[in-house]
Amino acid sequence: MQDRLNAIAETARREIGGADDPGRVEELRIKYLGKKGELSAVLGGMGKLAPDERRRVGEVANRIKAELEGLLAEAVQRAEAKKLEAELKGQKVDVTLPGRQIPPGHRHPVTRTMDDIVQIFRRLGFEIAQGPEIEQDWHNFEALNFPHDHPARDMQDTFFVDAPWVRSTQPVLLRTHTSPVQIRAMLQTEPPVRVVAPGRVYRRDSDLTHSPMFHQVEGLLVDEGVTFAELKGTLDAFVRAFFGADTRTRFRPSFFPFTEPSAEVDVSCVICAGKGCRVCKQTGWLEVLGSGMVHPNVFRSAGYDPSKYSGYAFGMGVERMAMLRYGIDDLRTLFENDIRFLRQF
Ligand code: PHE
Repeated sequence: MQDRLNAIAETARREIGGADDPGRVEELRIKYLGKKGELSAVLGGMGKLAPDERRRVGEVANRIKAELEGLLAEAVQRAEAKKLEAELKGQKVDVTLPGRQIPPGHRHPVTRTMDDIVQIFRRLGFEIAQGPEIEQDWHNFEALNFPHDHPARDMQDTFFVDAPWVRSTQPVLLRTHTSPVQIRAMLQTEPPVRVVAPGRVYRRDSDLTHSPMFHQVEGLLVDEGVTFAELKGTLDAFVRAFFGADTRTRFRPSFFPFTEPSAEVDVSCVICAGKGCRVCKQTGWLEVLGSGMVHPNVFRSAGYDPSKYSGYAFGMGVERMAMLRYGIDDLRTLFENDIRFLRQF
């Protein structure tokens, strides 16, 4: 009986080993392992054997059955692989085609401009300071010498935050400028203070040159005996580093509650070099910065002694700087995320 089993196993190995067609594999499974298959046929006679002999034959039969099951599983896999290959042959896939390239990206022009501005001030010895975009009324207005109900608040049309999670006894708002970082920086350290604060700010404003979210870079320097001359010298150096060595500056008297005296800083038009064009509205000058000497009340808010310390502050809009530098005439294109536009910078 064992000889017959081994003989069956041998032919089965040969036949199953050569099969690579699903129908044929199934046929062979039935032929050898089916209820009426060859193994069953032999084992049908096992009842007549002595118990010892029966156990031995049983072992051999089980081993062969397991082996054939393994071979059949392999044959099924082979058959499937062959079928897939036949299907793929029908499709014209050129595996030698080069892959699609993912082009390297680069910083957004606003980010790049902001980084460049900050870098110039870092070279001049300023450190980076930061503050929250959701700010308290006190930091954004009160501490900066905007009295309650003062019309100067109207210069900065404010988004107030009215959410269930706001737990504050005073109004909470989206900061309208980076100037509250002046207060935060001074509360954190004693003079000297030399910081620039880049970041996002928010105003209820939207047209060709205004967006409800935009970026500013703030500057603050506090020490003993700081003068307006230093403010002028620093901003002049900055403007020449940013726009080019030929750029000139002009300081015009202005008003901000947190600086006294205050000045708007103009630069000679970077488009026409001061001759007069559409961008500078024929004046030859472009307004790019607000600035001034820190108001004594601002020092008092921060706990600094205004009779001991003096300082200057300035703030600029990053989008405006980017537009002038790259010759962009519509601010909104900066925020549309059109890759054909952004790719140019
Ligand atoms: N915070 C002012 C603005 O947003 C700019 C400014 C900053 C002016 C610092 C003077 C000093 O308009």
